[in-house]
Amino acid sequence: MHRHALFRKKTRSSGIWLRLLWGFGYFGVTVATLLSVLLLPALLSKFKMQSEENHSFLHQKQVHFIQVTDDVHTQAKTNNSRRSLRSREKHLQNLWRHPPTRGFEPCVSPSKDYSGIENPRGYLLVHANGGLNQMRAGICDMVAVARLINATLVIPQLDKRSFWKDSSTFSDVFDEEYFIKSLEKDIPIVRKLPKELSTALKAHKNFRSWSSAAYYQEEITRLWDDYKVIHAAKSDSRLANNDLPSDIQKLRCRVHYDALRFAPSIEAFGRNLLERMRSKGPFIALHLRYEKDMLAFSGCSHGLSSMQMEELTRIRESTSHWRVKLIDPKEQRLKGLCPLTPKEVGIFLEALGYPSTTRIYIAAGEIYGGNYSMAALQARFPNLLNKELLASPYELAPFRRKYGPCSRGPSSLFRSLENNKS
Ligand SMILES: *[C@@H]1O[C@H](CO)[C@@H](O)[C@H](O)[C@H]1NC(C)=O
Ligand SMILES: *[C@@H]1O[C@H](CO)[C@@H](O)[C@H](O)[C@H]1NC(C)=O
Ligand SMILES: *[C@@H]1O[C@H](CO)[C@@H](O)[C@H](O)[C@H]1NC(C)=O
Ligand SMILES: *[C@@H]1O[C@H](CO)[C@@H](O)[C@H](O)[C@H]1NC(C)=O
Repeated sequence: MHRHALFRKKTRSSGIWLRLLWGFGYFGVTVATLLSVLLLPALLSKFKMQSEENHSFLHQKQVHFIQVTDDVHTQAKTNNSRRSLRSREKHLQNLWRHPPTRGFEPCVSPSKDYSGIENPRGYLLVHANGGLNQMRAGICDMVAVARLINATLVIPQLDKRSFWKDSSTFSDVFDEEYFIKSLEKDIPIVRKLPKELSTALKAHKNFRSWSSAAYYQEEITRLWDDYKVIHAAKSDSRLANNDLPSDIQKLRCRVHYDALRFAPSIEAFGRNLLERMRSKGPFIALHLRYEKDMLAFSGCSHGLSSMQMEELTRIRESTSHWRVKLIDPKEQRLKGLCPLTPKEVGIFLEALGYPSTTRIYIAAGEIYGGNYSMAALQARFPNLLNKELLASPYELAPFRRKYGPCSRGPSSLFRSLENNKS
């Protein structure tokens, strides 16, 4: 077995399913679901709520939600062949089953000879860049980098200038206290650079992308000879996945799966949404990455109007930190570099055998093209839900203050989808 594998063969056959699921992260349907739902509230800042929404509207929405029934058998019953009913039921059960673990279980605890930083040599300042997911992955890497170069980590600054124009700080999004506490055996973390160092000369670095541990331990560590503070201008430089000391890889995973929790208010709100979805049985959480920024960045414009194509090209051309400007949408799509359109997602889920009554939680920002883009998915799967349909404006209000200009959220989209149905 690969010596850096994070999962080792389990010796006992009865594993605790939660631990297994945890280990298989994105692969477990349930965990994917949970994560999407928990991640989603943190993206609240993308949306502007319609101020005219009030509780009477909420009431209508709840009624709609209650009417959504799980009659997975209805279709099968129309087929009077008993055998096909049985095989269909079996297929449905399998659809919601967790994928096989093949006997692996998580093992991210540090090895016996691992220790935290004893004598930190200086401070690592990090400017996390990109959207929430990218910043999250970057922060995991930066914790590992701090450990590799024996640095005290200063709580990272979150990107406020990305497409999302989100003004949230680290502690708005993540549980800062827990982050510091749960990593105390790995690296020292402080909230701010000590006063006496605030004017010190800093080494400003764009770490070389996909570098190995050696790059940090040699090249970057040398900076300590001249500086007390290293400032990473970006966090998305990604540590190489090959030949990383196993304890560093494990640390990276501990940050990802444990230390980097969402702030309690987001966590609680996410759990509420999750319970409301679960109360009606299994569901799909769909991170439909069919958002303006993604399409503009990737140059994917299949099925869009020429006006929309022009808008996306304009955004790409005017976003200075996106380096690739000239993209042939057809070629891009043929190379498999485009997100699935909502219609394609619908076809895909249908082909997998999910019945049209399946409830789908849309975990995404504003879908580009709005209800027009969603119509084909909605036609196959009418029970589309989102946080605006599951929560009241009152519950959503605390997350509202971070709204940026790219909002005008999907609430209007879903309202019109609902109206179309009735
Ligand atoms: C609340 O919603 C109802 C129905 O949608 C509407 O008639 C009423 O004017 C709204 N009230 C406020 C204060 O927005
Ligand atoms: C019933 O099941 C059989 C076998 O799967 C299939 O060929 C047939 O089309 C089904 N009939 C209906 C009405 O769905
Ligand atoms: C980090 O500190 C340890 C002792 O605590 C030392 O053995 C190691 O060489 C240091 N690493 C770097 C890159 O400075
Ligand atoms: C989409 O929504 C807009 C405004 O909410 C509405 O004017 C339009 O008719 C809708 N289009 C479709 C295809 O439902």
